[in-house]
Amino acid sequence: MDTVRTVDALRTRISKWRGTGATVGLVPTMGGLHDGHLSLIRAAKGQTDLTVATLFVNPAQFALDEDLNAYPRDEARDLELFVAEGTDLLFAPDVEEMYPVGHTTEVHVQGLSQILEGEFRPRFFLGVATVVSKLLLQVLPDAAFFGEKDYQQLLVIRRLACDLNIPVEIVGAPTKREANGLAMSSRNQYLNERERRAAPTLYATINQVAESVRDGADADKRCRWAVSRLTEAGFRQVDYVACRDAETLEPVEDSSRPARVLAAAWLGKARLIDNVAV
Ligand code: PAJ
Repeated sequence: MDTVRTVDALRTRISKWRGTGATVGLVPTMGGLHDGHLSLIRAAKGQTDLTVATLFVNPAQFALDEDLNAYPRDEARDLELFVAEGTDLLFAPDVEEMYPVGHTTEVHVQGLSQILEGEFRPRFFLGVATVVSKLLLQVLPDAAFFGEKDYQQLLVIRRLACDLNIPVEIVGAPTKREANGLAMSSRNQYLNERERRAAPTLYATINQVAESVRDGADADKRCRWAVSRLTEAGFRQVDYVACRDAETLEPVEDSSRPARVLAAAWLGKARLIDNVAV
């Protein structure tokens, strides 16, 4: 696996591949790799000829009071894991390469970016949508792979690819979990021993909400129950537990349409998010 750090070098490598007729898959990451990330590499390798991963901790998606400086960074470890999985090329630019001096253009996905995560992290999807648009345009892959773990992010990315006519298939991959149900996340490293024991309650709780809504229970009532259960389990703040339309993330009006239960809650220093299908 070669590592390139400039957009020029990336484009040179990709156009050589294109010359051979190979298809290209893209897997964007911020590093701190775990099996969730690696499952995306495996999905890409199963579906396209050559896999490009990216490693870039994107400052634009962190608010000033968030964990940009504490975010896990171990490039040597990440590189080994990418290689072991058979990644063909790694793009690991620095901030100046990604955001040239004087840059002012941002990609704003209206509506979808402003609800749920967007209410609690107002500029988060602006940062994600901008960097993912740039990565898609830099690589122009046939398919790009994202985790359902970040379900709202996946929908935002689908929307921007469609709206900006970027010719790419956006593929969503299932959430990888620990044996106890906890969704894998780079931020799980922030949990101490006691918090690690409480963390699986998030998945267990939203699963229970999804099951009872499937059986006809009142979604709002069940979401309120979920907030109190999480609080009892030691979550210090529950940002939201919501049951929403799986495509629009608007409140569910038609119970015959697919729905999703989504939640975000704080355990100590870590803000955990998770979601399940109803
Ligand atoms: P990051 O959190 O590093 O995640 C990179 C990709 O891995 C995302 O598509 C995310 O949804 C997926 N992922 C994370 N945990 C997962 C799990 N447990 N199972 C399956 N997939 C999982 O998400 C980002 O980075 C950034 O916002 C990014 C898209 C790279 C833009 O900066």
